[in-house]
Amino acid sequence: MRHRGVRAGLRRRDPWRIIIATTAAGGRNLHQGETTMTIEFRALSPSFATEVDGIDLSQPMTASDVKTLWNAIDRYAVLVFHDQRLSDIQLRDFAAAFGPLEIGRGALQGGKRRLALPQIGDISNLDEENRIRARDDRRRLDSLGNRLWHTDASYMPVPVVLGMLHAVAVPPASVLGGGETQFADMRAAYDALPETMKAEIDGLVVEHDIFWSRGQIGFTEFPPGEREKYPPSPQRLVRRHPGSQRKTLYLSAHASHVVGWPVAEGRLLLWDLTAHATQSQFIHSHRWQVGDLVIWDNRCTMHRGRPHDESQARDLRRATTLDTASTLEQAA
Ligand SMILES: [Fe+2]
Repeated sequence: MRHRGVRAGLRRRDPWRIIIATTAAGGRNLHQGETTMTIEFRALSPSFATEVDGIDLSQPMTASDVKTLWNAIDRYAVLVFHDQRLSDIQLRDFAAAFGPLEIGRGALQGGKRRLALPQIGDISNLDEENRIRARDDRRRLDSLGNRLWHTDASYMPVPVVLGMLHAVAVPPASVLGGGETQFADMRAAYDALPETMKAEIDGLVVEHDIFWSRGQIGFTEFPPGEREKYPPSPQRLVRRHPGSQRKTLYLSAHASHVVGWPVAEGRLLLWDLTAHATQSQFIHSHRWQVGDLVIWDNRCTMHRGRPHDESQARDLRRATTLDTASTLEQAA
């Protein structure tokens, strides 16, 4: 991978920021015009979310680069890159270095899409002709479910691992907000629970259902056959993150109820845990700029989109890596 000079704009004034400089590939010759081989991490808090600099994601990565980024993902769960300009093909190829890629619900629904590659999710307010979708557009209403705290695809039997969003067009700030994406640290939220609560929930299994989460915002119009295509899936409520070995809550708007409990009781527990896990001390809010790329680990975070001025284009492209086994088969 070609490495770039350290971006001058990164803030250095926060005394609590941690800087870890990692040599990406020992002994490799620099090419003309390259000034450094250092990937820099500037943590946004001691263990959650870090900015990354000194790397051009449009170029192929070495195994060492991938390992360096995995180590950062395992530690910080959210990685923020700036000033990247990736085509959909480059985004797909970058993401594929971390695992096989998901083809999301939008691409599987068939019909004309705005984006050519099925591995690239269309997280925008634009239709197939690049026009801003109408307020009552069915796809827009479906995507409003992403404003609820969730982890992606937890309704699938084998859910996903990494989500990656790349900003192509960003609306200006407005009274409605700027379309920020917020991330919540489910490891820190688990750590902060009372020991009695940890003991209560450690072995629980929760049913996740896309139709439950969409129903919460009154969206019930699905294409014929889609309900049958996405039956509910059971997931552990508490997982052990394989990279960090930390225990983590696995919550989502898709989480419907606790298996084996009265539905109402389980639902109330999930609401209480979600309220706990989305307190401000567990949250990083990302304000998008064109060229940003953010990676998050769906196994130990939740995220949600925030409102924005929908008369303006917002165009984010997403790639997602698949997991290899159900959470029920993984250690907790
Ligand atoms: Fe999402």
